[in-house]
Amino acid sequence: MILFTSWLFLVIHFVFISASEKLISLDCKNENHGVHGQKSLLECVVKSVTPVSIQALTWKRVREDGTLLEYYEGKTLTTPGFTLAEPDWNNRNLNVSLLLTNTKMEDEGEYECDVLTDGGPDTIRVRLKVTAKYTSPVLSSIPKNNIKENQPVTIFCNSTGQNGMIWWFDMLDQNCTHDAELETKENNDGLFSLSSRLTVQKATSSNSLYTCKVLSTTGFQKETASFQLQFDPSSMKQNLPITITLGVLGLVLFLFIVFLTAALLSQQGKKSEKQVDGSSDVLLTKKKADASV
Ligand SMILES: *[C@@H]1O[C@H](CO)[C@@H](O)[C@H](O)[C@H]1NC(C)=O
Ligand SMILES: *[C@@H]1O[C@H](CO)[C@@H](O)[C@H](O)[C@H]1NC(C)=O
Ligand SMILES: *[C@@H]1O[C@H](CO)[C@@H](O)[C@H](O)[C@H]1NC(C)=O
Repeated sequence: MILFTSWLFLVIHFVFISASEKLISLDCKNENHGVHGQKSLLECVVKSVTPVSIQALTWKRVREDGTLLEYYEGKTLTTPGFTLAEPDWNNRNLNVSLLLTNTKMEDEGEYECDVLTDGGPDTIRVRLKVTAKYTSPVLSSIPKNNIKENQPVTIFCNSTGQNGMIWWFDMLDQNCTHDAELETKENNDGLFSLSSRLTVQKATSSNSLYTCKVLSTTGFQKETASFQLQFDPSSMKQNLPITITLGVLGLVLFLFIVFLTAALLSQQGKKSEKQVDGSSDVLLTKKKADASV
C-alpha cells in the first residue's frame, strides 16, 4: 500500500513536471553578435501552447552573477545600458529579448534568462560575442617625400578596433606581410591600437602603391587603405627636361636653317637683279656710245 502511494506520487510528480515543461519554454538565440558602440539584442521568447502571463523575469550575467534586469509584481528594475527590447513591454508580451543600448567589448560573455509564468518556469543561457569595427587605417612613410630610387622606406599603417592582424600588399598584389612588424596595444576601453611597420628595402617608383588590410582573426571585421610613396620628382622625371631641351634645340636649329636659306635666297635674287641692271647699264652706255659716234 505504501509502495503504491509512493508510486502514484511519483507518477503524478512526473506527469506534473513533464506537463509544465511542455507548457512553456524559453526559445532563445544561442549565439548573439554585437558590435562595440552599437545596440545588441539577446533574442528570447517564451513559447507556450496556451496564453500565459509572466510573473517574474530576470536577466543576469553568468560571470559576475549580477542582475541586469528584473521584473516582479508589475515592476521592472533595470541597469543603465540594459532594457527589454520590446518598447512598452507588459507581462502578456512573451518577447523577453534583452537590449544592450551601447555595447562594450566587456559585454561579451554568457547571460542567463529566468522566467516564471503562470504556466511554469524556465531558465536558459545564451552567449554574446562582441566585435569592434576598425577605424580607417592611417598610413604614413619615412621618409615622407622626395624618396629616391632604391632607397629604403618604412611605411606605417595604424588603426584602432578589436585585436587583429595587418596584412600588406604591393602594387602587383604581392603579399609583403613577412617584411612587416605588428605592434598591438590594449586601450582601457577594451579596444586595441594596431600599428604595423613595413620595411621596403629598395623602393621603386614603378611599384609605389602599398595597401594595408586590417582584419580580425575571425574575419568578421576588416578595413583597407592604400598609400602612394612620394618619390623625388627630379629623379623620377629626369628624362623630361632632356626631351624638352633637345626639342627646343632642334626647333631653334630648324628655324635658323630656314632663316639662313631664306636670307641666302633673297641675297642671290638681289645679285641677279643687280646683274640685269648692270648689263642694261652696259647696254645703255653702249647705245650712248653708238649715238655719239
Ligand atoms: C522581439 O522583439 C525585438 C524588438 O522589438 C525584435 O527585434 C525581435 O525580432 C522580436 N523577436 C521575436 C521572435 O518576435
Ligand atoms: C602609428 O603608430 C606608431 C606606433 O605607435 C607611431 O609611432 C606613429 O606615429 C603612428 N602614425 C600615425 C600617422 O599616427
Ligand atoms: C599574407 O601573408 C601573411 C604572413 O606571411 C599570411 O598570414 C596571410 O595569410 C597572407 N595573406 C594572403 C591573402 O595571402
